Amino acid sequence: MVTDLTETTSNSETTAIEIRDLSFAYHEKPALHEITLDIPARQITAFIGPSGCGKSTLLRCFNRINDRIPGAHLTAGTIHIHGIEINRPDIDLQELRRRVGMVFQKYNPFKKSIYENVVFSLRLAGIHQRSALDDSAEMALQSAALWDEVKDRLHSSALGLSGGQQQRLCIARAIANQPDILLMDEPCAALDPTATLKIEELLHQLKEQYTIVIVTHNMAQATRCADLTAFLYLGKLIEIGPTLEIFSTPKDPKTLSYISGSFG
Ligand SMILES: Nc1ncnc2c1ncn2[C@@H]1O[C@H](COP(=O)(O)OP(=O)(O)OP(=O)(O)O)[C@@H](O)[C@H]1O
Ligand SMILES: [Mg+2]
Repeated sequence: MVTDLTETTSNSETTAIEIRDLSFAYHEKPALHEITLDIPARQITAFIGPSGCGKSTLLRCFNRINDRIPGAHLTAGTIHIHGIEINRPDIDLQELRRRVGMVFQKYNPFKKSIYENVVFSLRLAGIHQRSALDDSAEMALQSAALWDEVKDRLHSSALGLSGGQQQRLCIARAIANQPDILLMDEPCAALDPTATLKIEELLHQLKEQYTIVIVTHNMAQATRCADLTAFLYLGKLIEIGPTLEIFSTPKDPKTLSYISGSFG
C-alpha cells in the first residue's frame, strides 16, 4: 500500500496531527496515558509541564523517533498525520521523518560546512545537481532567517557559528527536506535571551507554512509564541486550549498550580 502522507481525510486540512487514546510505555513502565489531542495545521502548539511528565515522549511519537529507544512502545491508541495512521506497519519511516522534521534542545550541526549541513539530506536522497542544491540551500537558509548572516561563508565550518546561528542552521536543515510539520524540543534551552528572541520571531514566520509543535519549560515563551498550549502532568494531558486562556483562566487546578509556580 502507498504510504504517502498526502492522503487526506475530511478534517486533515485543518488538523495536522490527530492523537486518540494514546498510551505509551518504556518497557513495562507507562509514560503516557490515554492522550487525545488535535494539533492544528499551520499554528504553533506548545507542550508544557513539569520535568518527566512526558512532553518529549509525546513529541517523539509524531515521527516515531521513539522506535529507536529499546523497550519504548505504543501500548494503545492511534496517531493520524494528515489522515494517515503513522503506526501502521507499512509506513515508510524515512518519508515520515522527512515530512515531520525535528529540532532538538542541543543544536547538533554536523562537522561540515554550512552549505553541506543544509543539503545533507538532499544528497542522501540522490539529488546531486549543483543548481538544485544551491537553490534548496538558499531557500532553507532564507526560511530559517540565516541567509544574510552566512551567504558569504557558506563553505566555512558550521561549528564556527554562534549557538543561535547553529540552531537556526538545524532548522534550515529540517526545512530543506520540505517538511509539513516541525517538532521542536526545547529549541531555545541552550540559547541566550537575544538568540531566543530571534528563534521566536522565526517561529512566527514559519507557522505560515509549517505546523509547529514546541516543548518548552519557559512559560513566557509559550505565551509569546504559541497559539495553543497543552499542559501535561504525570503522562496525562490535563488540558489544552488557546494559550491566553490556559494562562489566564485554566480549567484544571493542576494547570493553575503549575503556571503559578507552585510545583514543577
Ligand atoms: N529513554 C527512556 N528510557 C526509559 N524511560 C524514559 C526514557 N525517556 C523518558 N523516559 C521516562 O518517561 C517519562 C517521560 O519522560 P519525558 O522525557 O518524555 O518527559 P519530559 O516531560 O520531556 O521531561 P523533561 O522536561 O525533563 O525533558 C519519565 O518518567 C521518564 O523517566
Ligand atoms: Mg523532555
